[in-house]
Amino acid sequence: MASFFIRTYGCQMNERDSEALACLLEARGHTPAASEETADILLFNTCSVRDQAERKVVGKVGLLKRLKQKRPDLVLGIIGCMAQNHGRALLDELPHVDLVVGTDCLPQIPDLVEECLNGTHGLVATDTSAELPVGLGGHRAGQRSAFVSVMRGCNQFCSYCIVPYTRGREKSRPVAEIVAEIERLAASGTREVCLLGQNITAYGIAETRREGTRDPEKSPFADLLRAVHDIPGLERIRFTSPHVKFMNDAFIEAITSLPKVCKSFHVPLQSGSDRILDMMRRGYTAAEYLDRIQRIRERLDDVAFSTDIIVGFPTETPEDFAATRDVMATVGYDMAYIFRYSVRTGTKAADTLADEVPEEVKMERNQLLLDDLDRRVAVANRRYVGRAVEVLVEGPSKRNAERWTGRSDTNKVVLFPPAPGLAPGDLVTVRIERTTSHSLFGEIVPS
Ligand code: 5AD
Ligand code: SF4
Repeated sequence: MASFFIRTYGCQMNERDSEALACLLEARGHTPAASEETADILLFNTCSVRDQAERKVVGKVGLLKRLKQKRPDLVLGIIGCMAQNHGRALLDELPHVDLVVGTDCLPQIPDLVEECLNGTHGLVATDTSAELPVGLGGHRAGQRSAFVSVMRGCNQFCSYCIVPYTRGREKSRPVAEIVAEIERLAASGTREVCLLGQNITAYGIAETRREGTRDPEKSPFADLLRAVHDIPGLERIRFTSPHVKFMNDAFIEAITSLPKVCKSFHVPLQSGSDRILDMMRRGYTAAEYLDRIQRIRERLDDVAFSTDIIVGFPTETPEDFAATRDVMATVGYDMAYIFRYSVRTGTKAADTLADEVPEEVKMERNQLLLDDLDRRVAVANRRYVGRAVEVLVEGPSKRNAERWTGRSDTNKVVLFPPAPGLAPGDLVTVRIERTTSHSLFGEIVPS
């Protein structure tokens, strides 16, 4: 038996895959290594979404050549999106790597690793399948908040995005299987789940299309939320990421009316310019985006939105950028991930558009949006002062152990002195006394 270490890059989907893979390896008798340096099996679960993420892994794995020379028995693997994206070419670039395994082949890893432990070198598995990979249901024990993957892949083909190529077509898990998984989690103490899918609002749609039962007024994801909502012991439901094009009334009705669904929604905007949105093939205009936000907002007293933005998409002018700033100001996001456009070989944008916005301009636009956001969030967080918020307790704060930390329904980090007997996973009410752009500070209100 060997010890293993999985280093994860990229999105929550990858984190979730790494967790499930760790369970598969443990089921074979392998044990988690204390550190990367001491592991017998070292796997890099990788991301292809931007060039920077890929370069980081190539640099890191390149540096491990010396270690591999010293310890030839070490099993070194690149798995996930980069493996799917580049396949065997990774072995040409990094010949000391033992195995390359793509996103649909993760369940094969325990077998492949065993072959490598027996001396095989240079294995590549990147077959894609129309079926969902089985065996990726395992969870770490004792989590208060757990990720649950409900679908894989993406059919949208936004012009900049590599995901449809690395994770393939949309495939959704059956409701009963997801509910059973969350029931098991809830029975073992999980209070919050975050449902994951690259385009989660397309949950079940490819399947209904195939069956000929697709109805654009319906939302299979809303039905899933209702089923998950009924699970006893579960307190909170989050999900990521929805796509505005699929946010119909049935979806909005479910997310605004189900009390366990947290009122904090990540809704990728990408750009506020209709011209750029069209070139990105997003399938909505800024006005349509704002309309959905407005419809959610008018049904709720308090709601937080976050988003993804790409700056410097080919041909983005100062006017396009100003339109993005305007939409961001109108929505008033509580958080945003801002990315500089990165050319991904094989995508429509890479094939047809030059990466013409200079890097300095991308950086400048990136910084402007971050500054806007920081300023606005600092002001917006003041709305919480004097209010009582419900907090799911995580545990002692890493920075200052005298304080405990948790999250509000709207996903704000809340810090407070612990009460006697307080345990992670408890739901407490905290009265907020002061705020910064990052956190809310307060005291527990005795119940
Ligand atoms: N360049 C920059 N950002 C990208 N994203 C996806 N593809 C690219 C790209 N080529 C961003 C999008 C997406 C997030 C996960 O990553 O904003 O929502
Ligand atoms: Fe990265 Fe996208 Fe793959 Fe997630 S799915 S790891 S964000 S490329």
